[in-house]
Amino acid sequence: MSLSNKNILLGVTGGIAAYKSAEIVRGLVKKGAGVRVVMTESAMRFITPLTLAVLSKNQVNTGLWEGDQERIDHVSISSGSDLFLIAPATANTLGKIAHGLADNLLTNLFLTFKGPVVVCPSMNSNMYLHPAVQANLEILRQRGVHIIAPAVGELACGVEGVGRMPAPEAIVMEVETLLMKRAKLSGKKILITAGPTREFFDAVRFISNPSSGKMGYAIAEAAARRGADVVLVSGPSLLPKPAGVRLVNVVTAEEMNEAVMSNLKDVDAAIMAAAVSDYRPVGRYPEKLKKGEEKISNDLERTPDILENAGKRKNGFLLVGFAAETEGLLENAREKMLRKNCDMMVGNLVNSSRSGFESDENEVMVISKKKDTVDKLPLMSKRQAAERIMDKIIEEMGLD
Ligand code: PMT
Repeated sequence: MSLSNKNILLGVTGGIAAYKSAEIVRGLVKKGAGVRVVMTESAMRFITPLTLAVLSKNQVNTGLWEGDQERIDHVSISSGSDLFLIAPATANTLGKIAHGLADNLLTNLFLTFKGPVVVCPSMNSNMYLHPAVQANLEILRQRGVHIIAPAVGELACGVEGVGRMPAPEAIVMEVETLLMKRAKLSGKKILITAGPTREFFDAVRFISNPSSGKMGYAIAEAAARRGADVVLVSGPSLLPKPAGVRLVNVVTAEEMNEAVMSNLKDVDAAIMAAAVSDYRPVGRYPEKLKKGEEKISNDLERTPDILENAGKRKNGFLLVGFAAETEGLLENAREKMLRKNCDMMVGNLVNSSRSGFESDENEVMVISKKKDTVDKLPLMSKRQAAERIMDKIIEEMGLD
């Protein structure tokens, strides 16, 4: 059974979909998982603790003040759990966990739990689409919480829209996939670069590019979710540090090169998604240049090619480069893969506002030297693309 040896903590909150949590418990138990349930007070208005205790063959906890006085339940209940699933998750509970409020057993457990958390938002579509709920979901997503998006359909309030909790089997399958994927990279060290570099020609002005870091950060998140020990070397980016990742901030190509070279030792894979400036001004004026002559000039010189340097130091790790191209994507990406001694190349089309720099979506192709294959992926969110790229990397590493 795929989930034997796995313990799942299931949090049930007070939405109409709470009745489906019985099926979630059954599905998890059928796959061999041990299931422990905690419920909020409002959840008990929709389904009884007894139902879930019978199905999980375990005591169900409902309050902060129940249980033995000698044990602190809000810590002990979750210890030994491999994953915390909150399904359904109401707007109220999402708001509390996004902001660190802990006024019941479930929200206390959320704060003490160190493992992966999956939430299934389920509510009326106006509530779900409200900017406050969306902002809370974004906070949770950025902290590494896995969100299973609600489905579109008829809602309990009688309207059609987004907000339905997905079918219990789909939730169980997603939990299963997550746990299996999570194990794939445990014990592996992965180095990732992201964002732009800045090459200054005076105290405040520089040559750079519009890279936001979104692609590289999404890859770092995807690798960390699968259990890897991730070092993310990032140029200037406004994005928050991804959960469970060691972030090394750099500014220039020279600094990025140094950070990468000093972290290459014992990596299992290096993935270079940064948009490194190829050239830098030869001289850097120490102050802010004053406006004066009509024309001024400054020579440019090459920056270190970090990917190429990593290719020269390859000692068994998998090296993955990115190739940002406006035309001839496949040929150019292949040429860079061979020239820089990479094992794989992600060809990235950067000729539209929907793909490449800054956008939330991306259109990429993943090229494998060893397998001599090219996988063209359609336009999708950078998060989805990151998952697909990680799948290919895991396959290439022989860990699938
Ligand atoms: O950050 P986002 O806004 O999400 O945008 C994502 C992205 C478009 C920046 C990203 O998906 C991407 O394509 N990154 C590579 C950008 C790039 O610089 O491509 P390139 O074809 O110029 O470089 C090829 C490879 O060599 C890259 O892996 C690059 O990191 C590396 N390189 C380039 C120059 C240099 N001096 N050192 C390098 O290591």
